[in-house]
Amino acid sequence: MSKTAAEIRREFIEFFQQRGHEFVPSAPVVPHDDPTLLFTNAGMNQFKPLFLGQATATSAFGRLKRAANSQKCIRAGGKHNDLDDVGHDTYHHTFFEMLGNWSFGDYFKVEAITWAWELLTKVWGMAPERLHATYFGGDADEGLAPDEEARDLWRALLPAERIHPGNKKDNFWEMGDTGPCGPCSEIHIDLTPDLSGGGLVNAGDARVIEIWNLVFIQFNRGPDGKLTPLPAKHVDTGMGFERVAAVLQGRKSNYETDVFAPIFSAIREVTGAPAYTGALPTDPGVDPARALVDVSYRVIADHIRTLTFAISDGAVPDKEGRGYVLRRILRRAVRYGWQYLHVHEPFLYKLVPAVTHVMADAFPELRARPGEVIAVIHEEEASFGRTLERGIALFEEAAANAEQRHAAVVQGVDAFKLHDTYGFPIDLTEIMAAERGLRVDIGEYERLMEEARAKARAGGRDDTREFVHLPQEILSRIRPTDDAAKYTHTRLAAQVTGIIRMTPEGVPVLLGAGESLRPGDRAAVVTDHTCFYAEAGGQVGDLGEIVAPGLRFEVEDTQRPGHYVQHVGTLVQGALVPGAAVELVVDPKRAAIMRNHSGTHLLNWALREVLGEHVQQKGSLVDPDKTRFDFSHPRPLTPEELDRIEQLTNEQIARDLPVYAAEVPQEEALRIRGLRAVFGERYPDRVRVLSIGAPVEELLADPESAAWRAYSIEFCGGTHVARTAEIEHFVLTTEEGIAKGIRRIVGLTGAPARIAAEIGQALEQRAVALLAGPPSEIPAGLAELQNTLQTATLTASSRVRLRAQVAALQQVVKHEQKSAVADAAGVVLARVAEVVSEAERISDTAIVVAEFPDVPLEALKTGADAIKQRCGSVAILLGVRVAATEEQPAKALLLAAVTPDLVPQGLKAGDLVKAVSGHVGGGGGGSPTMAQAGGKNPDGVPAALSVGAAWLREKLRAGRPQ
Ligand code: SER
Repeated sequence: MSKTAAEIRREFIEFFQQRGHEFVPSAPVVPHDDPTLLFTNAGMNQFKPLFLGQATATSAFGRLKRAANSQKCIRAGGKHNDLDDVGHDTYHHTFFEMLGNWSFGDYFKVEAITWAWELLTKVWGMAPERLHATYFGGDADEGLAPDEEARDLWRALLPAERIHPGNKKDNFWEMGDTGPCGPCSEIHIDLTPDLSGGGLVNAGDARVIEIWNLVFIQFNRGPDGKLTPLPAKHVDTGMGFERVAAVLQGRKSNYETDVFAPIFSAIREVTGAPAYTGALPTDPGVDPARALVDVSYRVIADHIRTLTFAISDGAVPDKEGRGYVLRRILRRAVRYGWQYLHVHEPFLYKLVPAVTHVMADAFPELRARPGEVIAVIHEEEASFGRTLERGIALFEEAAANAEQRHAAVVQGVDAFKLHDTYGFPIDLTEIMAAERGLRVDIGEYERLMEEARAKARAGGRDDTREFVHLPQEILSRIRPTDDAAKYTHTRLAAQVTGIIRMTPEGVPVLLGAGESLRPGDRAAVVTDHTCFYAEAGGQVGDLGEIVAPGLRFEVEDTQRPGHYVQHVGTLVQGALVPGAAVELVVDPKRAAIMRNHSGTHLLNWALREVLGEHVQQKGSLVDPDKTRFDFSHPRPLTPEELDRIEQLTNEQIARDLPVYAAEVPQEEALRIRGLRAVFGERYPDRVRVLSIGAPVEELLADPESAAWRAYSIEFCGGTHVARTAEIEHFVLTTEEGIAKGIRRIVGLTGAPARIAAEIGQALEQRAVALLAGPPSEIPAGLAELQNTLQTATLTASSRVRLRAQVAALQQVVKHEQKSAVADAAGVVLARVAEVVSEAERISDTAIVVAEFPDVPLEALKTGADAIKQRCGSVAILLGVRVAATEEQPAKALLLAAVTPDLVPQGLKAGDLVKAVSGHVGGGGGGSPTMAQAGGKNPDGVPAALSVGAAWLREKLRAGRPQ
């Protein structure tokens, strides 16, 4: 029986523990604090400060010399991206585990190579003759010599023909554009039956795959692109866990190991798909339909692992950034399921338990909130499901159209529509096209996307992020910015160190000496120092001005890619040149931002006080107008909860607590009980602790103190008020759900908060007064209330209460209307007896002609019916003078009715109203037995009635049998 994956993982860690390595748990797969890194893509990410010598020497982390673990990695974007290979081969994944061992300035190549060899061949018994090694062959451009030391170490273990020099691409490992790096030596395994695979090393062939990469970290790649030797030399190794499991379990494919087996079973069970056969689209003679079923199995299994881990670590599918990578991954998986496994309802979420089952022993964090992960995935699937079918139909049409035109290209306009209307990410459309041997017209698609973006920009503010991703070539020529003054100053003298403009083609250029910006030019201005706060941690970038005599540059946003603070905006006056001495002036709106940011911290504290410890921050946006805060909570908040949250926050404001901030070693800070950090977020080695109410030194001295119940303590790099009274007041204005289990609330501080609170109170009082007052005033008051409710900003709890009050008022109005009709009918009936007794009769027929009090038509009809009942054969003409109201002037109303026996005698109600309506200045009509007329002359009612009576007499007499 071969080893289980769990055994392999454990043996790896134990092997290195026995060699003096400490087990350091995997970092989260979502590096929340590093916007340049989409996902954790290598085991070394979390150790970056150690390689660079930036860790605090005295902390436990800083003292680490050797470490080992299995790191959760996602490679689905950025420098390392395996997404497009997934499903089509046997050994690429978006989520995988990387087994790693590290030396921080301790052992180096000898130990790294000999231990790797020992583990693979002695402990795990891999056949030595299957193994190949590569080493760095040098690079003239970088001025780097071949790594002969590694080569010679391998020569002691392997014959020369299985040791291969490699180029910079394969054998010089870098994490990203900057950072620790160095030559590497990889171990590949030849899986061909006859060991003939020597030529396939690094050829992208599944028969000879890399299993372990040993990196010898010796350099730091600086922002200027230069390699600087590090003071100490380090080892960073990474082994593909799933690949090693496949080798040790004698499987052809990673997907056939016990890492994936339970997930594949779950896919089969949940989708009812035919059993997995392991077919690849490239297998000779394979049935393409069959291969696609198996591709779907692999894609779905891979993607559900990525989704489960990323969402467990705090990421959420979204419109941009890493959230969009997750959304794309999810939609890919759903589409494969829909089209090839024929599941037309959400199913991915049902696979989460299988992932947790296989993985949670190694990664217990998966057990923390599986329900939340399932709910998020279900919601995303359901929402894509609503457009998927129509999207696929549109695609089919577009593809058929291309085929008919004998063009191998799906039009950009269709790809755009699929994206825009049906939510098909462009890479998904490309996969679908490729499956039919087609391409997508990406040029046209991009043009349409750009048009759409331009339209969106025209509606909003300019895109100030266009300068964020500058090429190394530009960055290397600018000095990094010192932005410490952002906490202390709003004006600062500085020197311009770089001005970047975009060419009309969208290419960034750095202004050289002698060049200058002209009025109207947009640019990013970098300075040596700044007091501007660059967007980070949910707080927006500062606005303001860069000024000098005769010069004004309006700053519309501040961004900070890496260490360069960019003031992005437009030159309004003068000429701005590189090297200029300027003054930086932050817009006074910053004060509102600080108020809102401190208010957010108090809110975060109050939320947990009121709702419970399960509340986790999911996102935030702090700008001058508001604070927007997303957090996990399973239900809408009640008005009482909203009130209580506001109340607790306002109490902290009223206490005028001092706000303390201090940068301290992360390790010490983490001991502070109750300290709030974003779940799953990775913080730097030195962190800024922001405490509202308790001095940070006191918290550090007594980390177990009960201060956490009383005060907000968070990691935060934002700008804050000095004392809470500056926040003035705090209210919540809206509360809504944005995803399953995630609520979004918006809050205000300062004067806007007071105004919102006052408006809310005033409206509530008005509603109460209306309910208590005379019903006749309600309709007008209600209209006014509803109007204000629609337009005014008021507190969320007021809004909820007001909605209930409005509903109550509407009830009263309805009731009033009903009883008004009933009352009127009463009045009419009271008069009926009288008019019947006064009726004149001709033969057996009564003539009832009478004026009634001002009642609605309905009541009048009730009266006519009652008269008929009492009289037997009768002809009726009733008139009403309707008094003027606010909406309409006074008018006349006439109602004529006759019993059916009179109709054959030529006595018709319709004829009667026609004969008399002229007197009230109007007209009317109806059936032979019932007719009505209205007119604008109420004073004509008596005349109409007497003319009507005469008309009736005449008709009846004429018709009377002689
Ligand atoms: N950092 C290297 C890699 O990711 C080795 O761990 O391949």
